Amino acid sequence: MILRLAALLLVAAICPVAAQDLGDVATGRRLAETWCGECHTVTPTRMREVRRVPTFNAIADMTSTTPLSLRAFLQTPHDKMPDLHLNHDETDDLIGYILSLRGR
Ligand code: HEC
Repeated sequence: MILRLAALLLVAAICPVAAQDLGDVATGRRLAETWCGECHTVTPTRMREVRRVPTFNAIADMTSTTPLSLRAFLQTPHDKMPDLHLNHDETDDLIGYILSLRGR
């Protein structure tokens, strides 16, 4: 697990991805509504946190949130989140969508 994260960080360091190179925001939003909306609030009109799960707007606004941190988070398993088996494109689209919420 630590090795996997280190490998990820290494790959990301070798080929840095600029935010604008990330996936499609509209697709990411659709994926988020389908797969993540059960826990994370997706629509901006429902801003309140549900059961202590941060909204995507809140995640986007955290200073620690970067394309790399999101990628590392989404590609490693978590206790409180189901393993969603996202492929590379889906991960990019979701990262693009989450970062598009920054400052909104
Ligand atoms: C079963 C509920 C559930 C689902 C479904 C879910 N999450 Fe989460 N997610 C959580 C919880 C709970 C946390 C808070 C985790 C923590 O604090 O350890 C979280 C935290 C996060 C974070 C915050 C990372 C950080 O830096 O704090 C991101 C990003 C995230 N989820 C993305 C997603 C995405 C993208 C999806 C859909 C593909 C998704 N989640 C689906 C429950 C869920």
